[in-house]
Amino acid sequence: MPSTSSAPGKVYLFGEHAVVYGEPAIPCAIERRARVTVTERDDDRLRVSASDLTLDGFTVEYGGVDRRPDVDVPTPLIEAAMGYVDAALAEARDAADRPSAGFDVEIESDIPLGAGLGSSAAVAVAGIDAATRELGCDLDPGEVAERAYAVERTVQDGQASRADTFCSAMGGAVRVEGADCETIDAPALPFVVGYDGASHDTGELVAGVRALREEYSFASDTVAAIGDLVRRGEAALADEDVAELGRLMDFDHGLLCALGVSARSLDEMVWAAREAGALGAKLTGAGGGGCIVALDPDDGTETALSLTPACAETFRAELAREGVRVE
Ligand code: MEV
Repeated sequence: MPSTSSAPGKVYLFGEHAVVYGEPAIPCAIERRARVTVTERDDDRLRVSASDLTLDGFTVEYGGVDRRPDVDVPTPLIEAAMGYVDAALAEARDAADRPSAGFDVEIESDIPLGAGLGSSAAVAVAGIDAATRELGCDLDPGEVAERAYAVERTVQDGQASRADTFCSAMGGAVRVEGADCETIDAPALPFVVGYDGASHDTGELVAGVRALREEYSFASDTVAAIGDLVRRGEAALADEDVAELGRLMDFDHGLLCALGVSARSLDEMVWAAREAGALGAKLTGAGGGGCIVALDPDDGTETALSLTPACAETFRAELAREGVRVE
């Protein structure tokens, strides 16, 4: 019997990048999900197929659990996606103590890959949940989050925080500071996402910020300033002060620009949103290209983004109250 699990993507209200250095961050899960179906095979082979907004679909077959795909798939996006799938299946084999289990895996996702909406975390979380259940082992969402974090750390060369994976596993709004992770109360926030159609390599962007921090003291001050801003954001969230949340998002975007992780397309979308009356707008996730998130209860931002050449797609995103779940 196949096992299917899904997990949501996320936007960062505040704190991406700085969270890697121990500052707090507040990501919020959104109703865009990755669904992973896993069927145990009677040999040790792996077959993975995927369909995604930014991929036309691909299928790769592995000769054995330790081997790379035996088809030549040069697309870096596919290689990156396969890294997360491989590592998630390794975590599931480890959790169930079944080191040579083989699987057929199908991934369907409405979260664009590498766009800042947490597609890799959602695939890792849903993949671990589905594969462990398929092997007869039930993990609670906290254990799934911890193993999915190990996946991101492996694939991103040790450069990851728990934020994306914890948020995807638990759902809702979460606060992450180092190893301290908790879900927090949040009102229904009027998120609007703008997507430039591009993708980024999270590991490279995180490495870029690390290098900047080592060379320039302003970059470590900027990371600390993001931490201060997140703490103010927590208070605004507790007061349900959406106007203040918007102002703080604008500041956060400015600080992320100083760290060199914005892009012309992201800045154009951020300004289009602000000029259309958004309460605030910022890039979300690793940056470099991908998505911005704005707060706007009215139609202005969506309309403005749909008319902005840099924006390939815009949509309203609801807070996903549920994290990983059985489908
Ligand atoms: C990527 O979605 C968020 C970063 O802060 C990296 C991480 O937290 O692992 C840039």
